[in-house]
Amino acid sequence: MPHTDLIQAALDAREQSVAPYSKFNVGAALLTAGGEIISGANVESASYGLSCCAERVALFKALTDGHHIFQALAIASPGGAAPCGACRQLIVEYTEDAEILLIDSNAPENPKSTRISKLLPDSFTGEDL
Ligand code: THU
Repeated sequence: MPHTDLIQAALDAREQSVAPYSKFNVGAALLTAGGEIISGANVESASYGLSCCAERVALFKALTDGHHIFQALAIASPGGAAPCGACRQLIVEYTEDAEILLIDSNAPENPKSTRISKLLPDSFTGEDL
């Protein structure tokens, strides 16, 4: 589990969060197969539904930089929230069963390790098409 640099990257990414409405700053960081770390943060819109979670920002950045295989995903938020349903769908489609680390930004020394197979069992994927 350690992934100290990845966890720090997710915590640092929170500083780039643009969340003027919820003020709930979330950072996410992906560790690629090649050992690179790609991070992202949530971005909100005045038309609330257009907002995008940190996990999807990080994932879209990584994918469009050409990274398609991931070792782990770290997510940092106050309380260490688990990813929302929309993000779970993209995570299951694009990260295989990479380790997911949930980090409470107020207590970052105790990350919780989980997997998307646990968070989103019996999922719909491209294999179903
Ligand atoms: N949010 C994330 O970025 N990731 C999550 O896993 C849950 C929620 C964001 C969306 C919105 O900007 C704010 O947190 C409050 O819902």
